[in-house]
Amino acid sequence: MIVLKDVCKSYKSGTKAIRGINLTIEDGEFVFIVGSSGSGKSTLIKLLMKELEPDSGSITVDGVNINKMKKRYIPKYRRRIGVVFQDFRLLKDRNAYDNIAFAQRVISASGKEIRRRVPEMLNMVGLSAKYKSYPRQLSGGEQQRVAIARALVNKPEYLFADEPTGNLDPENSREIMRILDQVNQNGTTVVVVTHNREIVDEMQKRVLTMQRGVIVSDDKGGYVQ
Ligand SMILES: Nc1ncnc2c1ncn2[C@@H]1O[C@H](COP(=O)(O)OP(=O)(O)O)[C@@H](O)[C@H]1O
Ligand SMILES: [Mg+2]
Repeated sequence: MIVLKDVCKSYKSGTKAIRGINLTIEDGEFVFIVGSSGSGKSTLIKLLMKELEPDSGSITVDGVNINKMKKRYIPKYRRRIGVVFQDFRLLKDRNAYDNIAFAQRVISASGKEIRRRVPEMLNMVGLSAKYKSYPRQLSGGEQQRVAIARALVNKPEYLFADEPTGNLDPENSREIMRILDQVNQNGTTVVVVTHNREIVDEMQKRVLTMQRGVIVSDDKGGYVQ
């Protein structure tokens, strides 16, 4: 469970990106975050990833304050989360298989575990036949599916996705959201920032709307407007 209490974050420029957020995300939830550009969505995701630290307030994950965490526990926390971005961020000089395997090599998984797990993930995202393809040989939708497989290969408890369909056409966007929904149904807590209102309407999940650094609505199950 993730709990944010009175979280504030300003950038050095003086911009108050997050201005007092209180939020609880239960284990197993699927949460959309929507809101206009500049409303603080990416900053919120970066705080959850521990890429940024709040100026005040606290973020606790399963009761542990991640901002007071000792340095040696940070890698352990990062392993509990998977992240997906709009621009995929794949390694261009590695094929799909190796992009996914890379995430396991980083944590020193055994060769046996890698050979077991990578095909499983490729299958999950429907790319078993393209495991040898390099990112430039894959469509945007396929690249994002590889990125999702990579984010999940180490079985994180949480998946944070910042506009994962931002560069994709409607058909591919739907497919990515379907995969994220599946991932959630398999037990991962999923938090997705998106501009794709149509899909948000369709999926009937919890929707947080941000405006100027605060959450202005928290709609549990279905986006009404
Ligand atoms: N690295 C940064 N330095 C200074 N200001 C930033 C930085 N990143 C974001 N901002 C500002 O913080 C506010 C929130 O940005 P962001 O979290 O990226 O919003 P969103 O993802 O909703 O578009 C915006 O006003 C943005 O210009
Ligand atoms: Mg953003």
